[in-house]
Amino acid sequence: MNGKHKALRAIARFFHTIRYGYEGHEGYRKSTDLFKMIPCVEDLKNGGLLDPHTTSFLDLGCADGRVNLMMSYFVRNSIGIEIDEEILKEFEPRRAALNRFLKDQKLQPIPETVHLFSGDSLKPQTHEKMKQVSGVPLQEVDLFYTYIILHDLFGEMIAEKAKKGALYLVYGFSQILPSYEGMEILIPDVGSQGIATLYKKT
Ligand SMILES: C[S@@+](CC[C@H](N)C(=O)[O-])C[C@H]1O[C@@H](n2cnc3c(N)ncnc32)[C@H](O)[C@@H]1O
Repeated sequence: MNGKHKALRAIARFFHTIRYGYEGHEGYRKSTDLFKMIPCVEDLKNGGLLDPHTTSFLDLGCADGRVNLMMSYFVRNSIGIEIDEEILKEFEPRRAALNRFLKDQKLQPIPETVHLFSGDSLKPQTHEKMKQVSGVPLQEVDLFYTYIILHDLFGEMIAEKAKKGALYLVYGFSQILPSYEGMEILIPDVGSQGIATLYKKT
């Protein structure tokens, strides 16, 4: 296992104790299981779909930024938008604690590629803000992500506004995969975890 992959496993361990929505009333902010995300990231990387020098990744509802932190090792820009400012406030203290956790294990620290900010991912003014905060306009995002939330509306927005060939990873599907107009399914079961599907804008 190389340094990056040891760091990924450590990040998954760190966030495993802070999960949301798998029990109780916090379904609206279910958090991605990062242990399932690791094979997905590896699948994308092995398929040549992630490039640390060029890829811009966008989590359309990033919460505490855990997926952004994991993706930050494999992309040039790891951008996240979160509508709830209180939830977004969890990010900085968590990043600091995670960096201490990685340092204690002599693992690679989190790259400086993460840009998170508050806003409604469906609104054009949020896309303007993204360009100011990260330098990346919506039309240059290579890989969009959502954990199920608003997947259909985000799909419509990507079909309308993203560049041709843009990828859309939806986490949370198992057997029945929806189709979105203007997109095709590229990988039905990314990482063979029975949880994520990759679409491509045609
Ligand atoms: C299911 S959680 C997923 C969090 C994170 N992406 C993960 O996978 O661990 C969805 C998050 O999207 C946020 N959200 C909902 N609608 C949004 C919108 N229109 N724009 C931005 N964020 C939104 C919610 O507040 C919530 O924190």
